[in-house]
Amino acid sequence: MKALVLSGGTGSRLRPFTYSTAKQLLPVANKPVLRHCLEKIRETGVSEVGIIVGDHGDQIRAAIGDGADLGLEITYIRQQAPLGLAHCIAIAAGFLGDENFVMYLGDNILADGIVAAAETFRASGCDATVLVAGVPDPRAYGVAELDADGRILRLVEKPPEPKSDLAVIGVYFFTAAIHRSVAAIRPSGRGELEITDAIQHLLDSGGTVLAEKYQGYWQDTGRPEDLLDCNRELLARLGPRIDGEIDAETSVEGSVVIEAGAKVIRSRLVGPLVVGAGSVISDSAIGPGVAVGRECVVSGAGVTDSILLEGAAVDSVPALRHSIIGRWAKLSAADGTRPSRLIVGDHAQAEVAT
Ligand code: TTP
Repeated sequence: MKALVLSGGTGSRLRPFTYSTAKQLLPVANKPVLRHCLEKIRETGVSEVGIIVGDHGDQIRAAIGDGADLGLEITYIRQQAPLGLAHCIAIAAGFLGDENFVMYLGDNILADGIVAAAETFRASGCDATVLVAGVPDPRAYGVAELDADGRILRLVEKPPEPKSDLAVIGVYFFTAAIHRSVAAIRPSGRGELEITDAIQHLLDSGGTVLAEKYQGYWQDTGRPEDLLDCNRELLARLGPRIDGEIDAETSVEGSVVIEAGAKVIRSRLVGPLVVGAGSVISDSAIGPGVAVGRECVVSGAGVTDSILLEGAAVDSVPALRHSIIGRWAKLSAADGTRPSRLIVGDHAQAEVAT
């Protein structure tokens, strides 16, 4: 089996970060989402991986490389424009050949892995297996309608009145039968070759498609609140590790990771949290649910439930929460006598105290 990881796309819901970065490289618990995906693929025993990349392809190549450190052999496949998930399969046809493959959306995290699902697919002899999960409001998803044996009868994209609560999530297993269906479909109303249409075509031509209910933690990290949710979950799974320096005036509670080369002075740390290499935290209260990237400077601040990307600086801000601070961005407190001053990037969001 091979793997196809989708790391192109626009990432419009994660602007402004996606103006300068691929969304799949945004970190959760200080590790790029894409790296989490690749680790989960490796666990299934698959080693040949094709990664679809778009405009941020060079950055993805620089961050992930040839995959040798992950035990993978990576081939990059350029998608000229985000023309849909099924379009990704079409342009990867040469790489995939007639092998079975797992297609993994590079912005999805399945924290409990996909080993069991891969085994179900391998043993089933079906044409495709789609991972699904129960969601409270399926109207924003592709929704699967199943028969009593867990076979998919129908897939409906964003139905106004869903007939089940089972959303199609970001991992699919295919045999080579999918290529004929991908070649047969036409772009949808939004101009994309939809994977739901390709799977529906496979079903209509007599193919068997199983639904595998994912029982573990799953998140599509497409929006800021999703990234923060995922960050909390994955931080909670890290074991404590102090490789950096913590002075005697700092208190530590819960699971705390301090990377080598990071320094914490006169602060209160409440895990789960991680502080990246080269960062300096002083006179601050950090956590829970905080990932501080590399080379950040946090002084006289209080930060909970937040992600600070590389080089971010937070100075004298007493209560920062539910926030994502971009690379080398600077936050500081107003002096109390003047109104707030903000230099905020395109499509950024900010809430300011009144
Ligand atoms: P989406 O999140 O559906 O699309 P997007 O990246 O364009 O995001 P937004 O809606 O915020 O603009 O994509 C799911 C995954 O598939 C994501 O990792 C990007 C990737 N993708 C491609 O590689 N090529 C494509 O043509 C599309 C549509 C998505």
